[in-house]
Amino acid sequence: MDHSETGHETDPGAHTGTARDGGVAGDGGTARDGGVARDGGAAGDSGTAGDSAPAPGDPAEGASPDPPAAGFDAFTALVDSPVYVVTTAAGGERAGCLVGFAAQCSLAPARFAVWLSKANHTYRLARTAQTLAVHLLDRHGHALAERFGGHCGAREDKFAGLDWTEGPGGAPVLAGALAWFAGPVRGRFDGGDHVAFLVEPAHTWTSPTAEGPALSLRDALDITAGHPR
Ligand SMILES: Cc1cc2nc3c(=O)[nH]c(=O)nc-3n(C[C@H](O)[C@H](O)[C@H](O)COP(=O)(O)O)c2cc1C
Repeated sequence: MDHSETGHETDPGAHTGTARDGGVAGDGGTARDGGVARDGGAAGDSGTAGDSAPAPGDPAEGASPDPPAAGFDAFTALVDSPVYVVTTAAGGERAGCLVGFAAQCSLAPARFAVWLSKANHTYRLARTAQTLAVHLLDRHGHALAERFGGHCGAREDKFAGLDWTEGPGGAPVLAGALAWFAGPVRGRFDGGDHVAFLVEPAHTWTSPTAEGPALSLRDALDITAGHPR
């Protein structure tokens, strides 16, 4: 296991997450989600404790985070990137939410990080799940994005009436996706009000008729996050 896959997860209950996640990056800021990923120590699921001390300049656990500098919103407003539907299953339940904070973060080994808000129902399941599935949507996928980004799975079944199948590790795979991959969670990292889940893309599928670009943050700006703080 590589070094980046070690650490420990800090107490999620100490955070309330942010609201409208996802956004073009900026939590608190420009867009939605809440995620200014700023405070918090390292995390991970391999049991290496220790790295929970805040980095210099970051608030201690439980302390109020500093608001982002005003210019940060202007920076994030210039950003556009794909949105993803991240699904998982654990304890006989399934969950999924729209995610804008996500990116490939390693070539060898192949790793992709998705950042889940501690406020989300999906995060609660993902904490104990073995596998996550990460879906890209096409330009006509706004309704799917709204279903997963605008509603909370703690209050309703987002999969009801939807065409999906049980995929690797039991993670739900959406038939309407442009492409998806799924695989084991190889590590976690506490970034503040979001936690990064490092996923190994062990299984992949791309629509034979796939045409990009995929649905992006700009296409989803009208969606109000279903699990605001
Ligand atoms: C454009 C957009 C981007 C989002 N990005 C993220 C994200 O990166 N991480 C996250 O945890 N939630 C993100 N969200 C918020 C969740 O998708 C939303 O709160 C969802 O309703 C949570 O569902 P759940 O409580 O069933 O998990 C985003 C929402 C929108 C509209």
